[in-house]
Amino acid sequence: MTSSSKRLADSRYRERSECRVCGTDSLYPFLDLGAMPPSNGFLSSPDDDEQFFPLEVVVCDSCDHVQLQHTVDREYLFSEYHYFSSASEPLLEHFGAYADAVESRYLDDDDFVVEIGSNDGVLLSQFGEAISTLGVDPAENVAEAAREKGVETVTELFSPEVAGRIRADYGEAAAVCANNVVGHIDDLHGLMRGLDTLLEPEGVFVMEVPYFVDLLSNHQFDTIYHEHLSYFSVRSLSRLVEQFDMQVVDVDRMDVHGGTIRAHVQRQSAERSPARIVRDLESLELAMGLDGRDAYDEFAERVEQTRTRIDTLLDRLAGEDVSIVGYGAPAKGNVLLNYCDVGPETVDYLLDTTPKKQGTYSPGMHIPVRSPGAFHDDPPEYAFLLAWNYRSAILEKESDYREEGGSFVVPIPYVDVV
Ligand code: TYD
Ligand code: ZN
Repeated sequence: MTSSSKRLADSRYRERSECRVCGTDSLYPFLDLGAMPPSNGFLSSPDDDEQFFPLEVVVCDSCDHVQLQHTVDREYLFSEYHYFSSASEPLLEHFGAYADAVESRYLDDDDFVVEIGSNDGVLLSQFGEAISTLGVDPAENVAEAAREKGVETVTELFSPEVAGRIRADYGEAAAVCANNVVGHIDDLHGLMRGLDTLLEPEGVFVMEVPYFVDLLSNHQFDTIYHEHLSYFSVRSLSRLVEQFDMQVVDVDRMDVHGGTIRAHVQRQSAERSPARIVRDLESLELAMGLDGRDAYDEFAERVEQTRTRIDTLLDRLAGEDVSIVGYGAPAKGNVLLNYCDVGPETVDYLLDTTPKKQGTYSPGMHIPVRSPGAFHDDPPEYAFLLAWNYRSAILEKESDYREEGGSFVVPIPYVDVV
């Protein structure tokens, strides 16, 4: 595919002039990933109609919040939601440990927990029986899967109005959880007003988001896509919640999704005092220069260098007449393939364990997606590890492939062949 065929859609997205956190209009653009299709927009035929949208990243000069310049209509992005959290084994374990941690630290019997963006109920189903739970998720197919697990789920987009109804029907929440969802929310102030309505005075909001410090340090530019509107640092998250008389009281750093923070937020009037790590991470962010522009410009340069390295390596391998397939068809893989302009002439197919993705074509580059069976029946010389966040699990699972001469091309954090 040539870039000229990636013409921008003329509707279904809006440009933002104001920062989603502080509302000022001093947004500095530092990275343009080009015209990009929705990264979960798998096609049933390579001839399907497809829309491309701008993917430009800005940082707010006032509060240093990193975010997308444009908001694509969510009805368009999420209409066929392929992502089922429970489909991934490492994530299942992660959520089990997460439920235990919230329960032992914050909850008593009969307490009420709400999860925003509860997906297929993978977190809520793992709380103890004495805890009552309610999921909120606008995607009907995942909500149905949650109900089948016995997790009561409201099929709505969380808003102050929905929060008010939940409070009226079920009472205040001792904990509200949100995993990998706050970054998807365009109206962050609406989220905060909803929390303010729903949380008990001593209640806690426990949210997980990819950590911008990890994104920047490990060149994870492919985790930037239309669904992810915000890229939080502890400082920008603090600026958000402070406007609603809340504070970040603790942060855990975790390996999930290439580097995640679990932030614990409470009302400023609540009793718990902030853990030292909150200040430590804010200091780290300042030491990295996240309050200036250079750190962002340098990141954008490294992203371009990564593209050059990937293209050079794949061109060389293609010249050697070997076969290359993509390992995993994650959303981030589609960003990487589109940005580096890698299509079916280089990568024969993408293999993915998600049944709904199999038999489809990848957005933008139109590479066929197949089941892992195709890979094991006829192993290629190279597997391009698009699901690099599962690197250790996949290398372990595919140890036979490597022993028999196959290699992985790893794009992130460094372009490498292992
Ligand atoms: P993930 O990184 O969880 O999400 P995102 O789409 O947000 O970037 O996606 C990982 C994809 O990789 C998912 O489609 C499942 C697939 N996968 C495999 O095919 N095999 C595996 O062994 C693993 C761990 C994942
Ligand atoms: Zn701002």
